[in-house]
Amino acid sequence: MEPRINPFAPGAGVRPPAFSGREHVIEDVDIAYDRIRNGLHANSMILLGLRGVGKTVLLNRLHQDAKAKGFQTVKFEVPDGSGGHLVKQLVPNLNAVLRRLDRMQAAGALLDRAGASLRNFASAFSVSYEGISFGATPATVTADSGDLEYDLPELLELVALAAQERGTCLGLFIDEFQYLSRSELSALTRSFHEIAQAGLPAILIAAGLPQIAALTGEAKSYAERLFLYPKIGALDPDSSQEVLREPAQKHGADFSATALARILKETQGYPYFLQTWGKFAWDEAEGPEISEADVENAYVDIITHLDQSFFRTRFDRCSDAEQHYLRGMAELGEGAHGTGEIAAILGTKSAAVANIRKNLINAGMIYAPQYGETAFTVPLFEDFMKRVIPGLEPYRPKKRTR
Ligand SMILES: Nc1ncnc2c1ncn2[C@@H]1O[C@H](COP(=O)(O)OP(=O)(O)OP(=O)(O)O)[C@@H](O)[C@H]1O
Ligand SMILES: [Mg+2]
Repeated sequence: MEPRINPFAPGAGVRPPAFSGREHVIEDVDIAYDRIRNGLHANSMILLGLRGVGKTVLLNRLHQDAKAKGFQTVKFEVPDGSGGHLVKQLVPNLNAVLRRLDRMQAAGALLDRAGASLRNFASAFSVSYEGISFGATPATVTADSGDLEYDLPELLELVALAAQERGTCLGLFIDEFQYLSRSELSALTRSFHEIAQAGLPAILIAAGLPQIAALTGEAKSYAERLFLYPKIGALDPDSSQEVLREPAQKHGADFSATALARILKETQGYPYFLQTWGKFAWDEAEGPEISEADVENAYVDIITHLDQSFFRTRFDRCSDAEQHYLRGMAELGEGAHGTGEIAAILGTKSAAVANIRKNLINAGMIYAPQYGETAFTVPLFEDFMKRVIPGLEPYRPKKRTR
């Protein structure tokens, strides 16, 4: 059918034509927003899910909802694990929030303190920003110790207080949360702990790979009780069908029952794959029905496209040894595998490949669902690994060059 009107939208953070299966999370967060607006407590949330499962799209939606409810928001993505991003992103964004608060109700003692605190914070962490200053620096200087774990809670509390004074709330939206450093996670956790204790109107909604749950827990033990961790997974069959059928039906087309069954089986309900299969099947079909034969004819193009666009980019960033480790995991099939089991299939001991595993976790390629277990963060990655490296060779440590 006509590619110019093909509604399917595979792509990072691209809004899907039919957004399905996330009603529960949207409703839970909506309740949290209303509770906070009413001066009640609500837990901050960290959306956890594998690559391409729809975390960014959901986070964007929750951000829109917060703005529609009058929250003052800050939203950004942590680009990678190289560190220092939190402060760099927060300073200009919080400054924008303070400006908006100032516009709602001109300055006042609380906003002055928040503004001064942000100035101190920015200078303590050497971040420059185009800012306006709010009033004179108050006698008590805050957020300038240079220790993020003390300064960030002070700063965020003051911003939340200024928001409260204006009858509004603060919302922080952070994507790729797993790339924050341990001290950044610690500082944020502590901030929201203190905000909760002070009963201030602020919420954190973050999204990232499933290893965050362990990371925040390690950073601060109370993080497990402070945050909720909604799991964002593959879509159930009804939602998966809706994702495909609704956009097609809007154009007077539809998928046949067998075409749907085939796509659901191949994609296992993972949103990025559903969008990709939908797109290619649409292009292949004469229409108005998209048949199983159309899906079959598009198969090679779909796999080639997914390999190049989704899997390959991640694979190419890994060293030879890392790729080899991933290939060993693939040999064991779908799901999580014991770290010892993976080492065994590579013909070595866990300790010999512990560093490789650690690097792969830091790079966001794999994660530990439980202690001592390892799983891919990318759905269906095991099939790709077997396509790209057909045979598994035993592990050979690199010889050191002197
Ligand atoms: N609930 C949904 N219904 C239909 N399509 C969706 C849904 N959620 C996401 N998608 C589609 O799936 C694709 C991936 O979404 P998104 O980029 O939000 O995933 P992600 O979890 O953030 O991935 P990554 O971990 O790689 O950042 C996009 O093409 C998006 O349109
Ligand atoms: Mg994303």
